[in-house]
Amino acid sequence: MSLNRKNMYGNRACCFYFAVVVLLASCSGNYEVYKDSGANLEARVEDLLARMTLEEKVWQLNQLILGDNLNVNNIGEEIMDIPAEIGSLISFTTDPEMRNAMQKRAVEETRLGIPILFGMDVIHGFRTIFPIPLAQACSFNPELTMQASQVAAKEAKLSGIDWSFSPMVDVARDPRWGRVAEGYGEDPYLASVFGSNVIKGYQGKALNDTFSIAACLKHYVAYGASEGGRDYHATEVSRNTLWNVYLRPFHAGIQAGSATVMSAFNDISGVPASANHYTLTEILKQDWKHEGFVVSDWNSIEQLVFQGAAANRKHAAELALNAGVDMDMKDLCYKDYLPELLEDRKISEERLDDAVRRVLRLKFTLGLFEHPYTPIVSDSLRYLTDEYRNLAREVATESMVLLKNDNDILPLKFKKIALVGPMADDSVNIMGSWSCHGKATDVVTIKAGLEASGLYEIEYSKGCEIDAVLPNGLADARRIAGQNDVIVLCLGEYAWWSGENGSKSTISLPKIQKELLKELAQTGKPIVLLLSSGRPLELYDVEPYANSILQIWQPGTMAGYAVCDILSGNISPSGKLAMTFPYNTGQIPVYYNARRQARIPYQSQGQGRYKDIQNEPMYPFGYGLSYTDFKYGNIILSDSIAEIGDRLKISVNIRNMGNMDAEETCLWYISDPVSYITRPVKELKYFEKRMIGSGEEETFTFELDTYRDLGYYADDGNYFVEPGQYYIMAGTDSIKLILK
Ligand code: NOJ
Repeated sequence: MSLNRKNMYGNRACCFYFAVVVLLASCSGNYEVYKDSGANLEARVEDLLARMTLEEKVWQLNQLILGDNLNVNNIGEEIMDIPAEIGSLISFTTDPEMRNAMQKRAVEETRLGIPILFGMDVIHGFRTIFPIPLAQACSFNPELTMQASQVAAKEAKLSGIDWSFSPMVDVARDPRWGRVAEGYGEDPYLASVFGSNVIKGYQGKALNDTFSIAACLKHYVAYGASEGGRDYHATEVSRNTLWNVYLRPFHAGIQAGSATVMSAFNDISGVPASANHYTLTEILKQDWKHEGFVVSDWNSIEQLVFQGAAANRKHAAELALNAGVDMDMKDLCYKDYLPELLEDRKISEERLDDAVRRVLRLKFTLGLFEHPYTPIVSDSLRYLTDEYRNLAREVATESMVLLKNDNDILPLKFKKIALVGPMADDSVNIMGSWSCHGKATDVVTIKAGLEASGLYEIEYSKGCEIDAVLPNGLADARRIAGQNDVIVLCLGEYAWWSGENGSKSTISLPKIQKELLKELAQTGKPIVLLLSSGRPLELYDVEPYANSILQIWQPGTMAGYAVCDILSGNISPSGKLAMTFPYNTGQIPVYYNARRQARIPYQSQGQGRYKDIQNEPMYPFGYGLSYTDFKYGNIILSDSIAEIGDRLKISVNIRNMGNMDAEETCLWYISDPVSYITRPVKELKYFEKRMIGSGEEETFTFELDTYRDLGYYADDGNYFVEPGQYYIMAGTDSIKLILK
């Protein structure tokens, strides 16, 4: 995208040039530079800014909503009287005519005709719903996520949306936190790659392309560290972890060109994210040169008062603007107080103008001044085309993770299926949280998908509700189980147990669902357990009862077809976990990239181990079975001694030992055993997914850049690469590299 004009905008000579252009333009009568699509972007911005009154500027920095608020967690009164001068609206409508009517007021009935920017939470699809982001991360196929984001952008754009509040790249290590569903798991590199691909998918080659929309990296920053998984709570984050874990995906997203950033709700070790000059201005805008704008999260400016950082709303507006928040989402603190704050000299005109410039720049870059309106296209042309649905099916299939498959019970060899469980015919929860304008009626349920295949004879019984008894439910389920060859049991969570405000104190399945499982196990029939959830689950007391477990997450519109693809063996499962499944809830936090413990040599003697449970998680990051076996060869390194800055080729051969073509993802980790800041046991640096034919072998290569891949951040944000020993790992092999 074209916002990255470091040399141009940062250069004083150019600012002088724009000032001259604007001055000449104003001397030449009526010529309005900002209306000239052929004029230079910065000249347009400066020209428009120079014409604006204080009130007009302040309106540009506020956002309200249009249509019925679809997010129950977006609390607060609705503002009925939307001024035509408003900078942005969260548009909850899919009706372009509504947008166009609002836009017409802004463009034709205001003094300067500045178009409104319409935003929406397009998180994993607009109407065609793709799997939740956490599931997409498990596909380890970022190319598919980019394509899914392009589809979401097209559907959104044709519904009047210019701007999506995603990707969410908050690294998440606590599955009690409901928002783990919205991000890309526990690894900063994985979140960086997926987040960047979402941005590329949305923003296309240029922001003013027909189907491009602007991205918004959120929630900046460290929101994933909410204590105890309680949403909106404070976080305690060291600078080491801030730099090496939480900031990394944001930095990658800025490098990928994200047009905007959203400041988070959380307090970061004493300074709320929406009043944090260090993260918002020093890091984001000064170090990383982000030239787009920062929007607050919903009411996160006013919430500075509740957090104890601001004495009142006016003070909150002062703190937020001075810290670097450019646009106020919904709480109108900016509208109410920026003029007074300017008069009181609590904020500067320079900073106010900087914020306005940033907003205007995006409006020009998106081409809103030239094309403010949305064309009217029928629903059948804009939504759920065959192409979109096929893609949604592919993403869903690749996202599913096979956790257990005793005696190769999958793919299914049986014909007669007892299909049981509250998720089996569910069309709402299976879409997941933040399912935008997805409709239950569009969803292919698991039952519908299996039936449509014509491969099976299916008898269905719900067994229980998600969290409640169903009269005769268990008995009925047991009855049909006895009459069939195999039980396909579909358990899981409500969509609203994940996402915003979806915190849980335990990640175990509801009691009634476990009772159903145990009841069915008594029949002695094999059980294939399908789990649909927006988070990793506690499975230690579930796993022993199931012969096979497939984590399907919340797969979206094409859930049923994707499940059938895997169960039937049409496609081999290829997902791997992007987030660790703890052994039990008490083990949280548990994640693969933890720093080393102090008594590793004595671990086998019980040192540093739980007295009551295993230390190891149930299923770690990167875990996932296939219908075939892959044999990894030894890692080959082009040079075992290198200098900082060198690039090395590292490769490994992987052979498909089974009878079925299947995809495998090779995960490349590094480990730095001795460092002046202790580092994680291992760190993911690259991954690649490829199809390997049955009996065939493929060479996977990692081009290691010793500077990029071996370095680490010190507490002050300085990146360093230390000479010494490193290990490179793939599969079960590891190889030593000496860096001089
Ligand atoms: C609050 C959520 O935290 C954020 O992710 C979302 O974009 C806004 N509400 C707008 O819906």
